[in-house]
Amino acid sequence: MSVFISGASSGIGAACARAFGAAGKELVLVARRKDRVQALARDVAKAHGVQVHAFQLDVRDRKAVESFIEEHAGLLSAVEVLVNNAGLAAGLSAIQAGNVDEWERMIDTNLKGLLYVSRGLLPKLIEKSARGGNCHVVNIGSVAGRWTYPNGNVYCATKFGVRALSESMRLDLHGTGIRVTEIAPGMAETEFSEVRLGDKEKAKAVYAGMRPLSAEDVAETVLWCVGRPKHVNIQELVVFPTDQSSVTLVKRAEAKA
Ligand SMILES: NC(=O)c1ccc[n+]([C@@H]2O[C@H](COP(=O)([O-])OP(=O)(O)OC[C@H]3O[C@@H](n4cnc5c(N)ncnc54)[C@H](OP(=O)(O)O)[C@@H]3O)[C@@H](O)[C@H]2O)c1
Repeated sequence: MSVFISGASSGIGAACARAFGAAGKELVLVARRKDRVQALARDVAKAHGVQVHAFQLDVRDRKAVESFIEEHAGLLSAVEVLVNNAGLAAGLSAIQAGNVDEWERMIDTNLKGLLYVSRGLLPKLIEKSARGGNCHVVNIGSVAGRWTYPNGNVYCATKFGVRALSESMRLDLHGTGIRVTEIAPGMAETEFSEVRLGDKEKAKAVYAGMRPLSAEDVAETVLWCVGRPKHVNIQELVVFPTDQSSVTLVKRAEAKA
């Protein structure tokens, strides 16, 4: 049995790879940054003595995803857990001033990418489950998929979409025995804000004076959901840092003069 993780080159995806590796699972990792994902694969394999397969894959590229699934059919037939994690926010501006290229990046990655990967892997999970496998899909949504916030518009819409797709997967997979969980994290300090804002200093300021979740905190929730007995499906799990009570309400310590 193996675990497939999209977007495993940093943040939550990389933390999931380390955590599943520590739990002795074989891994299939994909991301666009080949060097990063391959270096992680070597580290995890060395630390835990597990098999880790790492590939460069852009989930937005439908043809590339389809060829990948075809080319690695043997390897992928062992996948029991699919973690749809690859995703991003790009920019933070009002719809009326929005950057359409950024909108397309988010829609193409967070929705279409998740769909391409799922379309390729779900038939394999269905077969595996029919043969007694313990199959599970974990979609990384966001609290932005539950509540909108000013200038969050398109990112929020994609994550509302991930929630809808998670619910849809549960309906469409009904009776197959495959569990589907959506994890919706609040603020987690990863490369997320740097990717969104395009600037390390601005990204750092997002978490100033508060304690965000770590990627490892979120990975632990993923492992916990997958680790429940086969008849128990945690459908949705919302996890905020204690310092964040809603998408917009964040407790920050005063900056020292
Ligand atoms: N951090 C937060 O506060 C937070 C909160 C709620 C939800 N989330 C969600 O958590 C997920 C992981 O984000 P993160 O916080 O861990 O951010 P991150 O550190 O920036 O990681 C994002 C991962 O997604 C991969 N990725 C992006 N576009 C991709 C593409 N086209 N094809 C393949 N992989 C791609 C990146 O790898 P490459 O660049 O190498 O491709 C990277 O490994 C995302 O879905 C995000 O929306 C994050």
